[in-house]
Amino acid sequence: MVNHVAIFDTTLRDGEQSPGISLNMQEKLEIARQLESLGVDAMEAGFPISSKGDFEGVKAIARQIRKPVITALARAVKKDIDRAWEALREAARPRIHTFIATSDLHMKYKLRMEPKEVLERAVEMVAYAKSLCPQVEFSPEDGSRTRPEFLYQVLEQVIRAGADVLNIPDTVGYSTPDEFGALIRGIQRNVKGIDNVVLSVHCHNDLGLAVANSLAAVENGARQVECTINGLGERAGNAALEELVMALRTRKDYYHFQTNIVTEQIYRTSSLISSLTGVHVQPNKAIVGANAFAHESGIHQHGLMINRETYEIMTPESIGLKKSQMVLGKHSGRHAFEERLKELGFDHLSEKEANEAFQKFKDLADKKKYVMDSDIEALISTELIQIPEALQLEYFHISSGNSLIATSTVRISREGRTVEEAACGDGPIDAIFHAVERATGMEITLKDYRIRAITSGKDALGEGTVKVEKDGKVYVGRGISTDIIEASAKAYINAINKMLYDISENANGVNEAVEAI
Ligand code: KIV
Ligand code: ZN
Repeated sequence: MVNHVAIFDTTLRDGEQSPGISLNMQEKLEIARQLESLGVDAMEAGFPISSKGDFEGVKAIARQIRKPVITALARAVKKDIDRAWEALREAARPRIHTFIATSDLHMKYKLRMEPKEVLERAVEMVAYAKSLCPQVEFSPEDGSRTRPEFLYQVLEQVIRAGADVLNIPDTVGYSTPDEFGALIRGIQRNVKGIDNVVLSVHCHNDLGLAVANSLAAVENGARQVECTINGLGERAGNAALEELVMALRTRKDYYHFQTNIVTEQIYRTSSLISSLTGVHVQPNKAIVGANAFAHESGIHQHGLMINRETYEIMTPESIGLKKSQMVLGKHSGRHAFEERLKELGFDHLSEKEANEAFQKFKDLADKKKYVMDSDIEALISTELIQIPEALQLEYFHISSGNSLIATSTVRISREGRTVEEAACGDGPIDAIFHAVERATGMEITLKDYRIRAITSGKDALGEGTVKVEKDGKVYVGRGISTDIIEASAKAYINAINKMLYDISENANGVNEAVEAI
């Protein structure tokens, strides 16, 4: 018999806790929409008490994403639970996820609470959350390092208090598969009422064992796994959704489990997360890395030609990796473009967005002979999921060479006003970044800069990714163009626009930043 395992995605909560990741509301919503298309059973939309941005993000997702369960995280504290409920209340299927640490180490040094107090607090807060929300999930933080007897006691009592899902975290990624499997088996055998709730796991990847531990838990009774796209998350991250799901699917003969994931959406979801977070996966990453389906050795290639199964245990098509098709050229009309957008799954664009997308496609087709599917996907995900762009790059000029000092001139506009500036630098990118900085009059700390080809061929689209920091917050900007200097400048300005947007959303500081130009 094939059983079902629920997939709980926490990219927007644990994933967003990865160092250097910060997403604005539009980006969170776009990710949530894609997670819904991917078929996740539940998604953790954020930690509402932690910031205004998280609160608003959860609220917007709760309002707009109707199919999966939407959860929000809350410490086992009344004010956290109230805030989580306030953000979640419009959801079709809301769930409050509350947690408190239960290991001796965490109780003594972090919480400074006695086990008895922790037990009482867990019970009281689960009951409180249940009085507000129809579904409650409880996590004993550092569960894998908690004394089993105490863990059983806490779990048994929170079930009585109304918990619907019990989630066992390997918070610091310390467990091994045998050990973690045994822990889940022990919970199944020793906790009264366990059959009436869903047993879930949440594994971190500090020893590279998060997926193996999650699968061991499934073999021993867990029926929900918490995971993230590309394995994002605190420190070394969480169990990677794509690896878990493809392991269950590819080895169905062994595991006998199925999920609701539309695996053909995996590649698109992974690419979206990479480009919105600026965290790209390594080429040899399982399932979604650039080399995951590349066969270099002649022996392997020969074997594949005779029978794919010789060296391929799953097909690239099963994760949605298709050969990029040549679609359109500069003579293609609006109708053909819109049809292609629909076929590529972009059927949620508004009239205005479709118009903009068509214009951007036309601009690209003027520069590039053939516009491929991958070009269109890059255009939409990079250029259309945008916050209002306060600053626009109107013009740039570069002078550079191996015996010249690189200099750049830029013209930037904001609501009809334009500023022109020039600057020198160590190479053309440095020069243009300095010129932009001068034109905006703002002091910006550049944290990271990358450029890569996102499509193939000599006229490939280049994607610039820039991370800037202001007041301890990091903003990721992206820009694409067939010209890498333009892609870099657009990425830099995009990061500054996100910063300005964040400042204006949070009210104070807007004049200072905006007046600077
Ligand atoms: O890793 C952890 O313990 C967590 C909990 C809040 C579930 O993220
Ligand atoms: Zn975690």
